[in-house]
Amino acid sequence: MAEQRTIERLVIFGATGDLAERMLLPSLYYLDADKLLPDGLRIVGSARSKLDHDAFVAKVHDVLKRRVEGLAEGVWDRFSQRLDYCPADVTRAEGLKQLADHLGAASTIFYLALSPSLYGDVCRALDEAGLACGDCRIVLEKPLGHDLASSRAINAEVAAVFEERRVFRVDHYLGKETVQNLLALRFANTLFEPLWNNLAIDHVQITVAETEGVGDRWPYYDEYGALRDMVQNHMLQLLCLVAMEPPPDAGADSVRDEKVKVLKSLKPFAAPAAQQLSVRGQYKAGVVEGKQVKSYLEEKGSESSTETFVALRADIDNWRWAGVPFFLRTGKRLPERRTQIVIQFKALPHLIFGERAGDDVVANRLVIDLQPDEDISLLLMNRRPGLAGTRLQALPLSLSLDDGGRRRIAYERLLLDVIHDNPALFVRRDEVELAWAWIDGIADSWSDVAAQPKPYAAGSWGPAGAFALMERSGRAWLDE
Ligand code: NDP
Ligand code: BG6
Repeated sequence: MAEQRTIERLVIFGATGDLAERMLLPSLYYLDADKLLPDGLRIVGSARSKLDHDAFVAKVHDVLKRRVEGLAEGVWDRFSQRLDYCPADVTRAEGLKQLADHLGAASTIFYLALSPSLYGDVCRALDEAGLACGDCRIVLEKPLGHDLASSRAINAEVAAVFEERRVFRVDHYLGKETVQNLLALRFANTLFEPLWNNLAIDHVQITVAETEGVGDRWPYYDEYGALRDMVQNHMLQLLCLVAMEPPPDAGADSVRDEKVKVLKSLKPFAAPAAQQLSVRGQYKAGVVEGKQVKSYLEEKGSESSTETFVALRADIDNWRWAGVPFFLRTGKRLPERRTQIVIQFKALPHLIFGERAGDDVVANRLVIDLQPDEDISLLLMNRRPGLAGTRLQALPLSLSLDDGGRRRIAYERLLLDVIHDNPALFVRRDEVELAWAWIDGIADSWSDVAAQPKPYAAGSWGPAGAFALMERSGRAWLDE
């Protein structure tokens, strides 16, 4: 195999946009601060805006002063030396001429911080401009399509220019330290694996709750809604990491092969049952974290049937998980920010301590908090100390993952992995398409029954149906 050249250029298409400002530029700065960027790496910003080199460097400086904790002038001096800017309309080959002259034969990463509707045109233009050379890599942002058909179309247009090993599809949840820790928890302990199945586990809950509203992102959000914005990608990735079989090793394809098997085992949604299995909501005005906030419709200024909340029951049809429902719930304007996975173990088969003790018994539960807190807690039953008869109590055995250091931005890990050509934390084409196939079933079932989202007050845990979804199977969300 030909030896990989060290990456010499990172081109950010969309360098003046929100993602670059909030995530990419601060992440690159932090990597440079930790001396993790290759020495000669140059970072080339690109967008249609006609900025010159000095104006771009000044803009980045301004961004970092706002976004980075304690900008160090020494690091900034080094980082600023890496920066270049090259204006381009990246959808036309002729628009890329100046960039092509600038890059020459450098081995390059193209980061497409652009609307995915442009990806096909951009790949064609890169090819025609002679920029899609053998060891170049391309990084794609979500959402990759709106459904299976559009996702396949984008993937096919990209594949016509870049073979799969050079395509890095971002799901930033995979870059989060705590999400990667799920694999360590499962596969670096002997304790859990024998119990990680339908013999011991009653059900699994995955919650991604946000206090933020949609705000001025509604032009994007209104087309997608919570199902496509969060469930199709981040939440299904979490589900896969919880549900997958042990891979033979932690290599990129070993892990992705196992995730694919889970996606293939997801029971498809069919219209009549779907109403029992999923709930859509849309936030009204309300109070979140003590502040009065507007409804989604007020933010948008017109009617909309887009959901800002979704709760659903997923079933995985395989030997390990048959009969163990996975309850997924995500929404904007919920009472607190919380990303949490709850593994609820089964109730005791028989209680030996008498009836009184039975009132206090709670089934064991493993709670994995991913954000804002990072900890793992195992709820265990104990005997209350004292001379009276046996009374029991549930106590959590907790492991805090917060080491007091700065919490890294997920994009730091991901950018470093693209630079080092490690695709393990990126989503393979078959994964993204299988996820869309399952999501399409849910979206179709909603359109079949013309299901409108149910209203919920901002600051609440979503519409009543989300609670009924659990109650119907005799279960409850952890916060109830
Ligand atoms: P923005 O609208 O903020 O930025 C878009 C950028 O693309 C701008 O720099 C714009 O600059 C540039 N651009 C648009 N058209 C062209 C063109 N034809 N040629 C060259 N440059 C162009 O978008 P975001 O930064 O929010 O999002 C970018 C991508 O990241 C999207 O795929 C989004 O879904 C994804 N994403 C964003 C997140 C976020 O937090 N913002 C989170 C997760 C994913 P100019 O107008 O000067 O050309
Ligand atoms: C993005 C979604 O992918 O993830 C946003 O488009 C959402 O709507 C965000 O707010 C949540 O990410 P995090 O890292 O803040 O949990």
